Amino acid sequence: MPIKKVFVTRPIPQAGIDLLKKKKELQVTVQPKPINLSKKEMKKRVKGTDAILSLLTNNIDGEIMDAAGPQLKIIANYAVGFDNIDLEAAKKRGIIVTNTPSPEISESVAEHTFALIIALAHRIVEADKFTRAGNYHGWDPKLFLGHDLVGSNLGLVGLGRIGKLVASHALCFGMKVAYFDKMRDPQFEKDTNARYLSFEKLLAQSDVVSLHVPLLPSTRHLINTKALRLMKKNAFLVNTARGPVVDETAVLKALYAKKLGGFALDVFECEPAIDCDTTDQYELAKLPNVIMTPHTASATVRTRDAMAILAAQGILDSFAGKKPAHAVV
Ligand code: GLV
Ligand code: GLV
Repeated sequence: MPIKKVFVTRPIPQAGIDLLKKKKELQVTVQPKPINLSKKEMKKRVKGTDAILSLLTNNIDGEIMDAAGPQLKIIANYAVGFDNIDLEAAKKRGIIVTNTPSPEISESVAEHTFALIIALAHRIVEADKFTRAGNYHGWDPKLFLGHDLVGSNLGLVGLGRIGKLVASHALCFGMKVAYFDKMRDPQFEKDTNARYLSFEKLLAQSDVVSLHVPLLPSTRHLINTKALRLMKKNAFLVNTARGPVVDETAVLKALYAKKLGGFALDVFECEPAIDCDTTDQYELAKLPNVIMTPHTASATVRTRDAMAILAAQGILDSFAGKKPAHAVV
C-alpha cells in the first residue's frame, strides 16, 4: 500500500497518535507546538497530505484544502463543533469531514454545564474569592445568599446529546425541565416530563437558560437584546455551546442593568479574547455574577483521549475505504 500522510495541526493526546502510528503505511506528522499555525504556514505544512487532523482553533477553508492537493481525503476535526471548517468547500472537493461526538464528550460537557449552573446558583466562585481573601470573620445569616435549584425551571435551548444529559442532571436536583429545539422529541417528553415550549416562552419561564445548539447562521446572536428582555430578571444564562450564539455586549448591558441574575460561559464570542471590546478587555470578568472557564468543558483525561481515538479512527476508516462513523460531509 502506498504511504499515506497524516498531518496533525497541534499536539493531541497520545492515544490517537499511537493508533495512527500503529499503521506502518502511515506517515504521521504532529506539529509539535501548542499554537495555531498562520494560514501561510498551514498551507505549507499540509502540502501533499492525505489527511488533516485539525483542532477547533484552526480555520480550514478551501484555500488550505487546495494547498494540500487533490489527494486530500479527509479532515478529522478534534471537536464536536465544526464551524471552523468550510463544509461547502470540502463537499465541492469530495473531502470527508468528521467530528468527535463521543459519548464521553457529551457527558463531560453536560457535567461541566451543571457545575456552572450550581456555581452560579450557590455563588461558589464569589464565595471562594471572598474566603481566600481573608474576609470571612464569622457566620452571618445573610452572607452570600444564593438560590436553590430544587423546584426551579431549567430551559434548554437545543436538545441534542448534551442537552438531554443536562436535563437528566437537572431532574436529579429536582428542577423542572423545559426545552426548545427545532424538532420535538416526544419520547424525551414522555421519559422526563419535560415540556416543549416556544423559544420566547422558554426564555420567559426559565430560571436557568442553558444553550446547547451548534453555531449556525440561524443561531448566531440567538441570545440578543430582544431575547434577554424576555428573560426573568434573576435568571441565569449558561453558554457551553459556542461563543457567538450569545451577543455578549447585550448580556453585559443586561447584567449592568440588573436584568439578568448571572452568566456562566465556557466559550467566548471573540474567542480566544474573553471580551469583544478590545478597549476594555476584561469587562465581563469584572462582574462577580459572571463565571468563566477557558473552553474546558470537555477537558477531562478520559474524554480528550476518546476524542483523539475517534478522530484517528475516522482517518483509518476513510483510508480503508469505509465511511467514517462521524462524517458530517
Ligand atoms: C468543543 O467545543 C467541541 O466542539 O468539541
Ligand atoms: C449552619 O451552619 C447551620 O447550622 O444552620
